[in-house]
Amino acid sequence: MRKPFVAGNWKMNLDLAGARSLVAGIVEGLGGSSKIDVAICPPSIYLFPMAKAIVESTVAMGAQNCWSAPSGAFTGEVSAAMVKETGCRYVILGHSERRNTIGPRDSNGNIAGESNDMIAAKVRAVFDNEMIPIVCVGETLAQRDANETESVLTSQLAGSLASVKAEEASKLVVAYEPVWAIGTGRTATSAQAQAAHAHIRGQLVERFGADVANAIRIQYGGSVKPDNARELMSCPDVDGALVGGASLKPADFVGIINETIQAKDL
Ligand code: 13P
Repeated sequence: MRKPFVAGNWKMNLDLAGARSLVAGIVEGLGGSSKIDVAICPPSIYLFPMAKAIVESTVAMGAQNCWSAPSGAFTGEVSAAMVKETGCRYVILGHSERRNTIGPRDSNGNIAGESNDMIAAKVRAVFDNEMIPIVCVGETLAQRDANETESVLTSQLAGSLASVKAEEASKLVVAYEPVWAIGTGRTATSAQAQAAHAHIRGQLVERFGADVANAIRIQYGGSVKPDNARELMSCPDVDGALVGGASLKPADFVGIINETIQAKDL
């Protein structure tokens, strides 16, 4: 039985006072419940203060990114060990806002985003620092329209998870985030979500075997709100949500958590 996991990806939002009041609202709204796993993923500059704010609560913390190398001349980056020191349990990796699917282009027309190889190196660094990577995959609208959804997911998973060792794989979290559903208000139908999640799980079975694959949690992300969460979370292969916009409002985020609890009959 997989324990559902709902995480809030705050992206580059909120000032420090707003972050503190959001966390206070979430902690109060949850009232100590631990029926499912819950995490907040603040901007890295807020990780230390947010760690203090969640002490003695059931809320865990994740970072939105980290660098793969342990130290060195990487101006502006933070290492997995630095992230670990703040108290993070999770690190989001390979979000589409960082991958090469929608990054800005340089003067040669190259997309300045993250490759599967870079993500795999970061996954290694996160596991080596005893944290859990939340590895994001998802197709663009053009790829979906061209019937490439499954092949895109297959290659993103193969590349991004290349560094995962068999003995740690069950701890992994995968987030299916169709790029066309992120921040657009356009959610995948539950049938689309279940089909993509089943495909992802099938790939995990091929790579790690059924026992491990059945223990890996696969979150859905893309315009999740309290009023669509129950239907999405009812899908058998959907094990929680990676929430963007709605994670910035305590009532909405706690609402999604409660809908997940209901959907999974916990
Ligand atoms: P929204 O919930 O705002 O669509 O964002 C989803 C997302 O990108 C979470 O990582």
